[in-house]
Amino acid sequence: MRVLVTAGPTREALDPVRYLTNRSSGKMGYAMADAFARAGHQVLLVSGPTVLDIPEGVDFLPIESAAEMFEAVQRHIGRMDAAVFAAAVADYRPAVVADQKIKKTGETLTLELVRTPDILGSVRKDFGFTGTLVGFAAETENLLENARAKLARKGCDLVIANDVSKPGIGFDSDRNEVILVFPEHVEALPEDEKHHLAPRIVREIERLVAERGAK
Ligand code: PMT
Repeated sequence: MRVLVTAGPTREALDPVRYLTNRSSGKMGYAMADAFARAGHQVLLVSGPTVLDIPEGVDFLPIESAAEMFEAVQRHIGRMDAAVFAAAVADYRPAVVADQKIKKTGETLTLELVRTPDILGSVRKDFGFTGTLVGFAAETENLLENARAKLARKGCDLVIANDVSKPGIGFDSDRNEVILVFPEHVEALPEDEKHHLAPRIVREIERLVAERGAK
């Protein structure tokens, strides 16, 4: 099957030398892309800036900002059988990107931020995607409740929930502990290396794609 995977953080420019970003290393998304490729699928990895090696056999599309990731997904999603959104996309960006380096003037500096496009949320509604749609939910509280809400709101077939407040898993770690949230049931996977969890999750997505094809 053809699958698009988003991974890594986005960078939202403030001026020519500064940006807003987050703690995502890209490890979870790259592990997913690698597992899909090893299972024989065609993968397009749309990635924010990371220091990771590009997995073998994967088509690679580097982006920086949420707006660039939005455009890349919009351009390529139409020919995909499945899409997996593991990227940690900035929800807000600076309202204005200064042309010159912002100078130290006052004792405080107030930034105005504006919303970025919700890429996962646009996939069904605005891009008309009819394939299998998988999101992640990075939560620090009410993990299941928030993941279920995202599943319904964004039209996903599966949301992979991780508690990013737990030490040793989630952001910038080799390990993760996830709960697979489907419309009708949930399944908790024990903590493991991201590279071991990914093939397990890929098998679930293969099943969802097959079920969708059979309908
Ligand atoms: O990269 P690592 O260091 O390995 O860390 C892995 C991870 C914690 C980043 C990963 O497991 C994870 O949880 N990714 C999703 C992070 C996130 O931004 O979650 P969210 O709950 O804020 O967003 C929900 C979903 O909407 C996600 O699939 C996200 O990719 C997507 N989204 C969010 C905002 C936005 N503007 N566009 C989006 O597509």
